[in-house]
Amino acid sequence: MNLETDRLIIRSLSVEDSNAYAKLVRDADVMRYLGGPLSTEAAHRYVMDCVQRDQTNGISRYAVVEKTSGTFIGFCGFKQLREDAGQQVSAGTSWIDFGWRYQQQVWRQGYGIEAAEAVYAYGKNSLCLTGVEARAHRDNLGSLRIIEKLGFVWVNDYSTHAGPFRRYREPN
Ligand SMILES: CC(C)(COP(=O)(O)OP(=O)(O)OC[C@H]1O[C@@H](n2cnc3c(N)ncnc32)[C@H](O)[C@@H]1OP(=O)(O)O)[C@@H](O)C(=O)NCCC(=O)NCCS
Repeated sequence: MNLETDRLIIRSLSVEDSNAYAKLVRDADVMRYLGGPLSTEAAHRYVMDCVQRDQTNGISRYAVVEKTSGTFIGFCGFKQLREDAGQQVSAGTSWIDFGWRYQQQVWRQGYGIEAAEAVYAYGKNSLCLTGVEARAHRDNLGSLRIIEKLGFVWVNDYSTHAGPFRRYREPN
């Protein structure tokens, strides 16, 4: 997977991104609405899982790289998930989660929406995804704004150990 936008390269994650990803998710502010910081080991496992998912069917989180600096700034992409009973839909239902996560230094520069629009179009046109959903903590205003700008539609609110969340689905 390899995409280019005005300011970003978006490509498959690789094990070489593991240390940069570990640094990203060690940051408590980045992980504020995502259950808290992750250990280096957990971060490395996550990247390996994404690499395997990408190789299996292409449905994965992707690395987002700033063109001018060549820096890995975070991820944007998909994850096939299976619902549990605590999240307000029938247990056993699977869906495609659409999500993103970036280092603080690049927030509020429009990268989040730039990547989300490109990756969502890729998911629809190249992966032919259906049933895409996005979820964000009720207080995560930046993430909620990206979801709204994509045209996703509010479905319901629910709570997990990480707090109150809002669930949206892609438009019909
Ligand atoms: C949430 C996050 C992805 C936003 O990324 P970003 O690159 O800063 O977003 P953008 O610059 O593209 O902004 C998109 C919109 O959200 C708004 N926005 C961004 N951060 C905001 C904030 N903290 N409060 C209010 N609005 C915000 C922007 O103003 C813009 O709206 P506009 O076009 O109407 O002005 C980023 O803050 C992040 O990675 N946070 C940590 C990880 C995380 O929470 N991921 C999402 C989990 S659901």
